[in-house]
Amino acid sequence: MTSPQTQQWNPERYGENARFVSDLGMPVVELLSPQPGERILDLGCGDGMLSLKLVDIGCKVVGVDSSAEMIKAAKSLGLDAYVMDGQSLSFESEFNAVFSNAALHWMKGPKQVIDGVWRALRPGARFVGEFGGYGNVASIVTALESALSMRSVTISSPWYFPRLEEYRKLLEARGFEVRTIDLIPRPTILPGDVSSWLETFAQYYTSALPVKERLVFIAEVADALRNVLCDANGKWQVDYVRLRFSAIKPLTVT
Ligand code: BEZ
Repeated sequence: MTSPQTQQWNPERYGENARFVSDLGMPVVELLSPQPGERILDLGCGDGMLSLKLVDIGCKVVGVDSSAEMIKAAKSLGLDAYVMDGQSLSFESEFNAVFSNAALHWMKGPKQVIDGVWRALRPGARFVGEFGGYGNVASIVTALESALSMRSVTISSPWYFPRLEEYRKLLEARGFEVRTIDLIPRPTILPGDVSSWLETFAQYYTSALPVKERLVFIAEVADALRNVLCDANGKWQVDYVRLRFSAIKPLTVT
C-alpha cells in the first residue's frame, strides 16, 4: 500500500476546471435559507465563491478551509477566512448556521467534523450541507483503482461518500434533529475533458506513481472512461451523487 501526497489546490486551475462546483451549489444555499445578519460558518469554503453569495445576502460569514492557497484566494475577495482542518474546528457556540458545499467528502473523520460543527453552533442553529454521497463518481473511482492495480499499487480512497442512513445516524448520535436528508443522483457535464478533472481532483491517486508515469496514467484512465462518460459530441458527463441535508441543534439538549 503506497502513501500518496496530499491534494494540492491551485485556485486558478480550480477556477478553470471546477467552477461548476460552486455554480451548482445554489440548491444547498436555498436549503440553508440564509437571512441577513446571520453569522454563518462556511466549512470548506474553497476559493470563497459561495461565501461571497452569503455575504451579498447580508450574512456575516467566516470561511475555513484546509488549503492555504484557497484561503488566500478567498481573502482576496475580501472574505473573513482562515486555514483550519474541518475535523478539528475551534469555534464555540457562535454561529446561526454551519454551511458546507462539496467539502465534507474530503474529511474522512465525519464524527470529528460533526462534533466540531455541534460545538460551533448556538442552540437552535442549523447544519446544512451537500457533499458526495454513496456511489459518487463511482465510474471514475473504478477506473482509477483498476489502472493502479495494473501497476500493483493500492491506496485507500481519499473520499468519504456515505450512505444516507449512515450519515443520518452520525448526525442523530451527536444530538442533531435531521430535518431533511436526500441522496440525489446529479449527472454533471464537465467544462472540458475528464483528464482536467483527474488532474484537479484525483491527485491522491496520481501521486502514488512516479512523476514520469503520471501523464500516461491519466491518459489511460481517461481512455477507459471514454465509452462510459463521453458522448458522441465529446461532452463528458460524470456520475455525481449528492448527499444533501439539513439538521438542527435543538434549543434544549436532553
Ligand atoms: C465531488 O464534489 O463530489 C467530488 C469532487 C472531487 C472529488 C470527488 C468528489
